[in-house]
Amino acid sequence: MANIQNNQGGYSKRAMDYFQNPKHVGEIENPDGTGKVGNPVCGDVMHIYIKVEDNKISEIRFKTFGCVAAISSSEALCVIAEGKPLDEAEKITNKDILGHLGWLPPVKMHCSILGAEGLHEAIKDYREKHKKA
Ligand code: FES
Repeated sequence: MANIQNNQGGYSKRAMDYFQNPKHVGEIENPDGTGKVGNPVCGDVMHIYIKVEDNKISEIRFKTFGCVAAISSSEALCVIAEGKPLDEAEKITNKDILGHLGWLPPVKMHCSILGAEGLHEAIKDYREKHKKA
């Protein structure tokens, strides 16, 4: 826990690392589901793209126009969600994202909500496109 609790300008070490070196930035060609959410507080926007295989999230990418907290939360979401069955991924909340990051400045808590909502939208989109007739 010490390695992620070590604050840097109010951000945990892990949050700064995710912001500076995100591994999941980008788009997926022909995604199975997409989600787009905006933060009403600041107007920032996040796009989530997922690929689904065997009912699991096999690949996930994000494009986020936002602050350090929004980008590190997007990366945390992808790390948590990748490989998870859809039913489990649907239950990911911003508390899980915050727990994974260790710490965000209190005024930035609202930014972490984007990640979970974006994923839920992408799963909903996938389910709508793959409804059995
Ligand atoms: Fe907009 Fe953080 S200030 S998402």
